[in-house]
Amino acid sequence: MVTHAFNYFLLLSQGYLSFAQNVPTACIALQAQLGSQKVQSSGPGYETGATGAWNLANSQIRPGCIVCPQESVDVQVAMKTIYEFDSRYSVQAGGHSAMIGWDNTQDGVLILFSQMTNISYDAESDTITMEPGIRWGEAVAALEPFGVAPVGGRQSDVSTGLLLGGGLSWLSPAHGFAADSFKSLDVVLVNGTLVTATADNEHADLFRALKGGGSRFGIVTSYKLYPVHTGTNSEKSWISASIMYPNSSAEAVLNATARYVQNVQDPNAVILVTFLSLITAGIVEPLVSVNAFYNISGSNTSSLPSTIFGDFLSIPSINTTITSPVSYIEISNTLPPGTNTGSGSFYGASAIAATQDVSTFAGSGGYEFTVLAFTPVLSPQIQAGVARGGNAIDPPPEDCNWCPVPAAGGQEGNCYFWNSMFLVFGIYIELAILLLTNIQ
Ligand SMILES: Cc1cc2nc3c(=O)[nH]c(=O)nc-3n(C[C@H](O)[C@H](O)[C@H](O)COP(=O)(O)OP(=O)(O)OC[C@H]3O[C@@H](n4cnc5c(N)ncnc54)[C@H](O)[C@@H]3O)c2cc1C
Ligand SMILES: *[C@@H]1O[C@H](CO)[C@@H](O)[C@H](O)[C@H]1NC(C)=O
Ligand SMILES: *[C@@H]1O[C@H](CO)[C@@H](O)[C@H](O)[C@H]1NC(C)=O
Ligand SMILES: *[C@@H]1O[C@H](CO)[C@@H](O)[C@H](O)[C@H]1NC(C)=O
Ligand SMILES: *[C@@H]1O[C@H](CO)[C@@H](O)[C@H](O)[C@H]1NC(C)=O
Ligand SMILES: *[C@@H]1O[C@H](CO)[C@@H](O)[C@H](O)[C@H]1NC(C)=O
Ligand SMILES: *[C@@H]1O[C@H](CO)[C@@H](O)[C@H](O)[C@H]1NC(C)=O
Ligand SMILES: *[C@@H]1O[C@H](CO)[C@@H](O)[C@H](O)[C@H]1NC(C)=O
Repeated sequence: MVTHAFNYFLLLSQGYLSFAQNVPTACIALQAQLGSQKVQSSGPGYETGATGAWNLANSQIRPGCIVCPQESVDVQVAMKTIYEFDSRYSVQAGGHSAMIGWDNTQDGVLILFSQMTNISYDAESDTITMEPGIRWGEAVAALEPFGVAPVGGRQSDVSTGLLLGGGLSWLSPAHGFAADSFKSLDVVLVNGTLVTATADNEHADLFRALKGGGSRFGIVTSYKLYPVHTGTNSEKSWISASIMYPNSSAEAVLNATARYVQNVQDPNAVILVTFLSLITAGIVEPLVSVNAFYNISGSNTSSLPSTIFGDFLSIPSINTTITSPVSYIEISNTLPPGTNTGSGSFYGASAIAATQDVSTFAGSGGYEFTVLAFTPVLSPQIQAGVARGGNAIDPPPEDCNWCPVPAAGGQEGNCYFWNSMFLVFGIYIELAILLLTNIQ
C-alpha cells in the first residue's frame, strides 16, 4: 500500500517535471500561431489575467502564458498545441472556483475567456447563445429587453463555470439545475477537435457528462440554452423578502428550513438561508439571513403565502423587508456582487452536523468571516431536470425507491440537496450534502 502510494507519487513528480520543462515551448508555439495579442506571458494584460481569480490562492499562481481566445478556433489551436507539448494547462471563465488550482496553473498555459463574452437571444428558436466569459449580471441585463433570462447564478460576478457544476439559481425550483437548460454545447476536446454535443447526437454521452459533471470532459466554447420567460423589468411578478435574524433565532430558522425542505412542493417559491459569522479580534458575531422570493403571476396572491413562509415570518428578526411586486431582474440584483473577491479562501468537503455550533468552528482558526448557506432542492426541481432529459447529478433512480422521479416508479417526496459554503477572508468551505427524506 505504502509502496504503491510512493510509486504513484514518483510518477506524479516526474510528470510534473516534464510539464514544467515543456511549458515555455508550448507558449512560444502558441504565440507563433495566435499572435502576441492573444498569447501573453508578461505585461499589463498578462498581469490582469493572471491575478483575476476570485480566490486569492488562485490569483497568486503565475501561468507561463495566458491565451485569450476570441473564437472557438483559437481554443482548438490552444488545445492541439497543449496536447502536442504535453503542457500543464487550466481554464478560467469567471474565476469564481474556490478550489485551489482549478482555474489557474503555475507555469502552465491559462486559457482565459475574458474576450469571449457574447450573448444573444433568438426568438424564433427560443434559444439563448452564450460564450463562456460572460458573467450572470451581464447576461441577465443583456437579455432583459427580450423578457428572457438564463437559469444562472444568484450573484452577478459569477460566470458560466457554474453551469458545468450543475448550478443553483433563483429559477431552479421551477426550471431545474442551470445545466438542465442546456440545448447544445460546442466543445473543444483535449486534442483540439471541435464537436457540437446534444442530447441525441453521437456526443450525447459528453452532453450528459457536462450537465453537472464538471469541467473534466472538454472545453465549452458556446452554450445554447433554453431560456426562462421571466418578463422585462416592467413586468413585476414576484414578491421579495429579505430577513435578518439575531443569533438567538438561529435554531428556529434551522428548524424552519428543515420543515420547508420536507413540506414545500411549490415551484414558485425559492429560498436561500445563510448563517453568517463576522469575526473581529476574536469576537464572533453570528447572524442569520433569509432571502425568499415568490412568483405570483399564476396566483391571486399579493402577500407571501403563509403555508410556505409563515414559519420564517413569525421568527423574531432584526429586520424584515418585503418588497412587492418586483421584476426578475430586481431579484437577480438582490445579492451584492463582488463578495470577497481577492480574499484567501479555503475549500473543503466534509460534513458538519447541523447541531454543531458554527461559531466554535469559525472562531478557532483566526478567520474573519464565514458563510454557511443552505439551498433546498425540492422534487419539482428534480422533475424539471428529468423533463429535460436528466443530468449527471440527480440521484440515480435505480438506487432508491424514494426518488421523486415518476418515470422510475419512485415514491413522491422531496430529495433535498443542501449546498452550503463557508466563505471567509480566511477560509472557504463548500459542502454539498444530499439528504433524503419524506419517504411515504
Ligand atoms: C461569491 C460566489 C457566489 C456563488 N453563487 C453561486 C450560486 O448562486 N449558485 C451556484 O450554483 N453556485 C454558486 N457559486 C459557485 C460557482 O458556481 C462555482 O464557483 C463556479 O465554478 C464558478 O464559475 P466561474 O466561471 O465563475 O469560475 P471559474 O473558476 O472560471 O470556473 C470554474 C471551473 O470550471 C472550469 N471551466 C470554466 N469554464 C469552462 C469551460 N468553458 N469549459 C470547461 N471548463 C470550464 C474552470 O476550469 C474551473 O475548474 C458561487 C461561488 C462564489 C464564489
Ligand atoms: C461576438 O460579437 C462580436 C461583436 O458583435 C462579433 O464581431 C463576433 O463575431 C462575435 N463572435 C461570435 C463567435 O459570434
Ligand atoms: C480527437 O479525439 C476525438 C475523440 O477521441 C477523435 O474522434 C478525433 O479523431 C481526434 N482528432 C484528432 C485530430 O486526432
Ligand atoms: C448562537 O446561537 C447558538 C445556538 O442557539 C448558541 O449555541 C451560540 O452560543 C450562540 N453564539 C453566540 C456567539 O451567541
Ligand atoms: C428545533 O427542533 C428540535 C428538534 O425537533 C427541537 O428539539 C427544538 O426545540 C427546536 N428548536 C426551536 C427553537 O424551535
Ligand atoms: C411564474 O408562474 C407562472 C404561472 O405558473 C409561470 O407561467 C411562469 O413561467 C413563472 N415564471 C417563472 C420565471 O418561472
Ligand atoms: C383568481 O381570482 C379569480 C376571481 O376570484 C378567479 O376566478 C381565478 O380562478 C383566480 N385565479 C387563480 C390562479 O387562483
Ligand atoms: C433593513 O433592511 C433595509 C433593506 O435592506 C435597509 O435599508 C434598512 O437600513 C435595514 N434596517 C435596519 C434597522 O437594519
